[in-house]
Formats: sequence, structure tokens, C-alpha cells
Amino acid sequence: MGDQATPPAPELAAMAINDGPCLKHPFSDRAPVRSIVCRPDGGAGLAGQRVRAGGWVKTGREQGKGSFAFLEVNDGSCPANLQVIVDAGVADLSTLVQTGTCVLVEGLLKVPPEGTKQKIELRVDKVLHVGPTDPASYPIPKTKLSLEFLRDHIHLRPRTNTISAVARIRNALAFATHSFFQEHGFLYVHTPIITTSDCEGAGEMFQATTLISEAEKLDKELILNPPPTEADIEAAKCTVGEKSSVVAQLKAAKATKEDISASVSDLKKAKENLSRVEERAKLKPGIPKKDGKIDYGQDFFGRQAFLTVSGQLQVETYACAVSSVYTFGPTFRAEHSHTSRHLAEFWMVEPEIAFADLQDDMNCAEAYVKYMCQWLLNKCFDDMELMAKLYDKGCIDRLRMVSSTPFERITYTEAVQLLEEAVRGGKEFEKNVEWGIDLASEHERYLTEDIFKKPVIVYNYPKGIKAFYMRLNDDSKTVAAMDILVPKVGELIGGSQREERYEVIQQRIAEMGLPLEPYEWYLDLRRYGTVKHCGFGLGFERMILFATGIDNIRDVIPFPRYPGRADL
Ligand code: 4AD
Ligand code: MG
Repeated sequence: MGDQATPPAPELAAMAINDGPCLKHPFSDRAPVRSIVCRPDGGAGLAGQRVRAGGWVKTGREQGKGSFAFLEVNDGSCPANLQVIVDAGVADLSTLVQTGTCVLVEGLLKVPPEGTKQKIELRVDKVLHVGPTDPASYPIPKTKLSLEFLRDHIHLRPRTNTISAVARIRNALAFATHSFFQEHGFLYVHTPIITTSDCEGAGEMFQATTLISEAEKLDKELILNPPPTEADIEAAKCTVGEKSSVVAQLKAAKATKEDISASVSDLKKAKENLSRVEERAKLKPGIPKKDGKIDYGQDFFGRQAFLTVSGQLQVETYACAVSSVYTFGPTFRAEHSHTSRHLAEFWMVEPEIAFADLQDDMNCAEAYVKYMCQWLLNKCFDDMELMAKLYDKGCIDRLRMVSSTPFERITYTEAVQLLEEAVRGGKEFEKNVEWGIDLASEHERYLTEDIFKKPVIVYNYPKGIKAFYMRLNDDSKTVAAMDILVPKVGELIGGSQREERYEVIQQRIAEMGLPLEPYEWYLDLRRYGTVKHCGFGLGFERMILFATGIDNIRDVIPFPRYPGRADL
């Protein structure tokens, strides 16, 4: 396995800390553990160097009747720990050895005695910082903790081997994504998070509104300062009447200029007060309504707005101008799916290519998935080994297989035939298989895991189960859609060639019972300079599930959001 690993370039900036040369992070006063232990020689070649290292103690134990302590220190730069040895004369060992303690230490790197696992260890002569941890209350002890348990300690779980490895794999896949699209001439476009269009037309959007908080603020204010009563308004009107007759009397009595202007000013104030009182009297508690419906005209954007379910529609505007683009950002779906494959907030990578059809779309998606698999083999081998050890022993072989094997490509009709054959052969599915159904996760996984044992691209789906923007095929029954199904996960990618014909797309919107008005701008892309184009969306967390073999999507995003849960 290890032969595939590409060791990172050691950050051997020979800079001086105090009196000796040592490895140093460019922007932090210590050497990353990775730069010491992830060298091809395991760090042995650094023996004799002075080093300052920091991290959190994974395990610690006092030895030699308390004369020294061994610490396994991890700073998250790699899965491996640095072995640190501290003598009792240097620091209070009992505070250092607790799991979770933060230490910053300095000393000499030495080759440990024969027969030790480590190739290098740090003999500490200075302890520069200790961030102590009370073992009685620290929720992340060194015992093996379940991923479910860790979800209740979202803010401390990055201290664990699994979650920090997932963070590095996630980071690598994000880098791979940008690298793939940039290498292929795509422009990264930032699509909006707040949107007024529903891309998938599935009505699963979270609303972005200030109407509720404004209404709450007003409710509180009206309790503190109750709105004026009829009597208050009458009194204010009376005052205006009185002040205005004072002005009239003074004028009639030819009073001095000063007296008249003082009374006019009084009258002005009384009028202002009256209009204030009348305005306040109109204030009504609760959310503003107009004609019996919520008045979104008074909302923040002057109209209803939502969190995006996909950046596709907006990124199409750039594809239809600068040709090859992609967006990569968070998307939000208010679906009540309590599954291990769904999140309410997930990240999506969405390329969009002009002058390209469904075949080009499939080719791009396949090349991108392969590229990411190869990237992990090249750059994250040590983290992948941890995943293989802890979660899925086949995950490294799967990356190798996917990066080197062509994906199967079958039409939806063929997929249904294969599933029907399986049913005839005795396979039982919860959901009945027939042409026209939306394939369920059990069907998708059967195709990719049991029949083909590799990624499968299913294309040309019935139009009835797909979104309005997908291009209608000549049979008028199917659309040029494609889904990529992968083992462990099921649907990883959903994409399509877009309907570029103005009349057809207009009719499809109407057919699906969607209002035309909100899509007028989208139709303009077809009215003016229309072009054949296609794109797809890859669920970023699903890619991490697929790569690592971790079972639950809630464990591969730093801050999972799902029904009933949004910690931090
Ligand atoms: O198939 P979907 O809904 O496609 C779109 O949103 C298109 N607008 C994409 C495009 O053509 N530009 O979603 C794309 C992918 C799915 O294949 C799945 O991997 C992931 O997004 N996905 C989810 N991931 C986590 N949690 C959820 N609730 C998800 N819903 C979809
Ligand atoms: Mg889909």
C-alpha cells in the first residue's frame, strides 16, 4: 500500500529559533509535526536538530517512577503523532500527560532506541506553553468513541483521528476540484446563496426573511409603548385645534412678529405630534398582510427570497457568455430526509459547459471523479490508510478501481430492464420496479454494487420525474439527463443537457405547472443567443462518503445540519 504514497515536501525552512537551526512553519513559531514525521525516512534524518513543536496530547504516561513522561502529540497536520519525552526536571509531568492538553515544547530530535516504532523522537528541554485539560470533565478521552457520540461534541471532535483525517481528505478534494476545473479552462463563478428562483422546482427551500424578527421586535415595542388609543388621537387633534386658534387670535390682534412665529412653531409641533400618533395607531402586531396574504413587499428584499438549492440556473448565465464555468458552494434543502445520505446544508460542485451535449457532460463528470480518486491516492495516502483500517478496508482499492476503470453507461430503460430481470430472479425491493418510477436508493445501489460493481451512469430518464430545464429527447418521453451511481452511496452526481429551445422550455415550464414570470430571465438565455449546453452537480459530501467508506454523511461535513439539529 505504502508504495503509492507521495510524501509531502518537508518544510525544511532552516530558520533560527533561539540558538539552533530547526524546521519552522512559515507563519507560526513551531515545526509542523508533518514536516518531521512524514518524511520518507520517518524523520530519522533530522536527528540532532533543535525543534519547537506544538499540538494536543493524544496519550501521555509517566515512566521511570515519574522521572520522565512520554507524550504522543498531534497537531492535525498529518495522522501521525510526534513522540515527545519530557524529564521531570523540565516541567510538572502530571499536567502534561492528560489527553487533550495543549503543549508547545522545544528540544533535540533524537533517534529512539532500537525496536521502537518511531523513527524519531523529541527530547524536550523547554516547555513553552501548557494548555491544561481537566480529565474529569474532558468529553473526548483517549478511549474509542463512536461517531454518533462525537456528533454531540461538534466543537471538540476535530481533535479525534477520524474527524481530522476527514478534514484533510475534504480539503484535498476541494483543492482537487479547483485544480481539475482550472486545468481544463473553467472559470470559477460565485453564485448567490440567497435566491429568488427555485432551481429544482421541488419546493424544498428554506426561506430567507426578516418579517418574523421584525414582527417580534414590533410586538415587544408595542407592549412597552402601547399604540395610541382613539382618545389619544382625539387629544392630539384637539391640541392642533387649540394651537391653530392661538395663531389666528394673535394674528387678528396684530401681535408682535416674535409672538406670532412662536405660536406658529407651537402649531407645527402639535401637527407633527398628531401625524406621529396617527402613524403609530396604524401599527399592527404580527406579520404584515395584504389582501389576506403575507405582504412580502415589506420583506427585506421586497419579495420572497430563499436559500439556494443549487447554483445551476445562475451559473448558466455565465456559461452562456464565458463558455466553461463552475460553481462550488453550500446549498440548502429543507427536505425531511432522516437518512445517512442527506443533509439540509451540503456543498455542491456544479460545472456548466457551453457547446456541449450529454455525452460531453458524462465525459467531464467521469474524468472529474477519476481525477479526485487519483488525487487522494497521490496526496492523502496516510489518511486513506486510516480510513481503510477503521471504516472500510476496501476503500483504497475502490479509489484505484474507479480511477482506472471506465464507468458503465446504460439508459434508464436498460436500467429498469435489469432491475426487472433481478426481480424475476428473486431479488426483492421495497419499491416496485416499473418504467417511469424515480429509481430509489435500493435500486441505484443494486445496479452499481451488485450488477456492475463499479460506477454506473444512467441516462435518458422519463421526463415526468426530472426537472423542467432538462432537454427533451426526440422520443418526447425522455430527457437528456444523467445520474452517476457509485457503490456505497448511490447517486453521486445528477446532471443533464439543458433545454436550449425557447418554445420547448416554455412549454415544459407550463406543463409542470410552474409560473413563467420568475423564469423570464432564464428564458432570455434562450431568446438571445441560445446555445447547446450541459452541466451537472456533484454532492461533495457524498464524494467524501464514497472515498472514505464512512457510513453517515453527518460525519464528513464539519458542522452537519439536518432536521432537528444545527449545532454551533
Ligand atoms: O440531483 P440534484 O438535485 O441536481 C441538481 O441540483 C442540479 N441542479 C445539478 C446541476 O445539474 N447543476 O443534486 C446534485 C447532487 C446529487 O446527485 C447528490 O449527490 C447531492 O447533490 N445531493 C445531496 N447531498 C446531500 N444532501 C442532500 N440533501 C442532497 N441532495 C442532493
Ligand atoms: Mg438528483
